[in-house]
Amino acid sequence: MFQSLQPLPPDPILGLSAAFKADSNPNKIDLGIGVYKDEQGNTPVMKAVKQAEEIILKSQATKSYVGPTGAVDYNETIARLVLGEKLFDRLGKRRATVQTPGGCGGLRLAAEFIGKANPDATVWVSDPTWANHKPLLGSAGLSFNSYPYYDYETHSVNFDGMLKTLQQVPKGDLVLLHGCCHNPSGADLSPAQWDAVRDAALQQGFTVFIDLAYQGMGTGLDEDVYGVRLLAEALPELIVVSSCSKNFGLYRERTGAVTLICDSDEACATASTLLAAAARANYSMPPDHGAAVVQLIMNTPELRQVWNEELTGIRERINSLRSIFVQRLREAGIKRDFSFIENEKGMFSFLGVDADQINTLIEKYGIYLVNSSRINVASINDSNIEYLINSLAEVLAD
Ligand code: LMR
Repeated sequence: MFQSLQPLPPDPILGLSAAFKADSNPNKIDLGIGVYKDEQGNTPVMKAVKQAEEIILKSQATKSYVGPTGAVDYNETIARLVLGEKLFDRLGKRRATVQTPGGCGGLRLAAEFIGKANPDATVWVSDPTWANHKPLLGSAGLSFNSYPYYDYETHSVNFDGMLKTLQQVPKGDLVLLHGCCHNPSGADLSPAQWDAVRDAALQQGFTVFIDLAYQGMGTGLDEDVYGVRLLAEALPELIVVSSCSKNFGLYRERTGAVTLICDSDEACATASTLLAAAARANYSMPPDHGAAVVQLIMNTPELRQVWNEELTGIRERINSLRSIFVQRLREAGIKRDFSFIENEKGMFSFLGVDADQINTLIEKYGIYLVNSSRINVASINDSNIEYLINSLAEVLAD
């Protein structure tokens, strides 16, 4: 039976990591996968996480099941982090949060929930969007349309185009937005643009679905969720999928959540049963460890402070790398204007180089980037920036 199967091409992002590992070029640079790296090129376990793990190792009394919706305390903690204390209190039982295996597990659960709520729903995704959005949500049976998002000429959000399309999305469909640090472009909506999206959602009645994978990696923990909180306050319904992979560095621990806001307490109680059933039918229950770590950090003032300082350091390093990269490109005499990279947020930006140039960067220079020209700015450091700039200067001069 298995002999009839045909191999699939490698994943556009994960495949790059494998190719990078296999490359023997001593100067190789991995600008591919969205994983934070420090000045030494490592992705260390955060200090607060290590400390929390030590406490858990000593104090954990059982490994018994946690249940399909995960740990109640963690779910509340995440909802408070995403929504803020005031809104968390105001929403009361109109909000339900379910622990998931990472943001991807959350997206999958949300997709199944959407499929039950409206099997004919179309999900409108940004053009471009994260390479795994369509495979992930599509595998749960959802179908797609897209709204214009990034203008490759001006290197900014094509907000007029986006809004015009949103103003035609019907009730019953969903609009998937990136909460902050848009993946792959790094171009985020301004507060005024979020306000306009809220107005379009109220006018059209479509449901907003937010992927929040980078809270705290852009401008700040609260600043990065301006849009999420605005919509959570104003709209009758909202779906937010959040991840602790990046802001807690818990990538492999698969720690995420789905938060639903419903138009009544009763609707929310019903919706929670569907999320629980979807979790049970997929993986029974989420892994515990990462959520236990997050829960402990957020509820222990000293650990929370250590985490906050470390996250601030990560964010500030990424933002300063953006400035340094742009400055070094300019100093190398590269004529093309890359100043937009300095204004973008999170780990990603498009270099704007074409397919041949990407190929040359990978094949000739061992510089790995996604086939959309997306780079992970956090992979740049003092030891590799010269080689990176010189290689780019050569490729752009050809
Ligand atoms: C990325 O976009 O590189 C990250 O979100 C990692 C992934 O799973 O693709």
